[in-house]
Amino acid sequence: MELKVYQNKVKVAEEFSKYLIEKSDTQKAFHIALSGGSTPKIVFDVLAEEFSNDVDWKNIHLYWGDERCVAPTDDESNYKMTVEHLISKVDIPEENIHRIKGEDDPKTEAKRYGELLDKELPKELGLPQFDLVILGMGDDGHTASIFPHEINLWVSPDNCEVAIHPESGQRRVSLTGRIINNARTVAFLVTGESKAEKVKIIVDREEGYLEYPASHVAPKTKDLVWFLDAAAAKLLTSSQS
Ligand code: 6PG
Repeated sequence: MELKVYQNKVKVAEEFSKYLIEKSDTQKAFHIALSGGSTPKIVFDVLAEEFSNDVDWKNIHLYWGDERCVAPTDDESNYKMTVEHLISKVDIPEENIHRIKGEDDPKTEAKRYGELLDKELPKELGLPQFDLVILGMGDDGHTASIFPHEINLWVSPDNCEVAIHPESGQRRVSLTGRIINNARTVAFLVTGESKAEKVKIIVDREEGYLEYPASHVAPKTKDLVWFLDAAAAKLLTSSQS
C-alpha cells in the first residue's frame, strides 16, 4: 500500500487529479468507479475546473462504487452530486456514463448493474476489471456501501449487493469485494480529522482492524493508494507500509 499525505483537501484534490491524468493516459477506454461523499466533491470540482483540458474524456467511462436508493434528482444521489461537480462541467460523451439507477427496485438494480459490469468491463481472472476504483471511508470504517454491521456482504459471490445504512436504514446498491479487489488500481480519498482514528487502526493494522470493511480493500494487483490530508493522517505512526 502506498500512502500519500498532503497538507489539506485542496492539495489532495490537485494531486489526485494529476494522478488520474497520468493513469488514464492510455489511448484506450479507461473505466473508473466513483465514490460518493464529501472528499470526491472537492476532487471533482478541482478536476473539472483546473485539469479538464488534460483529460481525454472520450476514453473515460464512469461507473459508481455505490449509490443511495433514491431518484437521480434527489440531493442524496451520488449521481446527482457527480453531475453537479463534474459531469456538467466537462465534455464527456453521455454513453460513457453508467449510473446505478437508485430509483429502481434495489435488488433488481443490483443484479442489472452486476450484469452491466460483466458486459462493459474487460475481464481479469474471469471477473470484470475496473482500471481504477475510487473509494471513500466513513467515520465508522465503511467503504463503498459496505458497513461494519454487514461486513459479510464484502465476500458476496455477486458483483453487487443491496446494503442498508446502519442509522438511516437507507438502502444502497454497492459493489462487493470481489469487484473492488479485482481492480487494476484502488485509490482511497480520505480527509478530515474525524477519519484519523480509523485510518490509524486500518493502515497500522491495529487490533480489531478486520471489523472495518475498508481493511478488506486489497487489490490482487497490490496497487492500492491512500490519498490523505494531514488531519486524517495525524495519528499515523508509519508513513508507509
Ligand atoms: C457514499 C459513499 C461512502 C463515502 C464515505 C465517506 O455514498 O456515502 O460512497 O462510502 O465515500 O462515507 O464519505 P465522506 O467523504 O463524506 O466522509
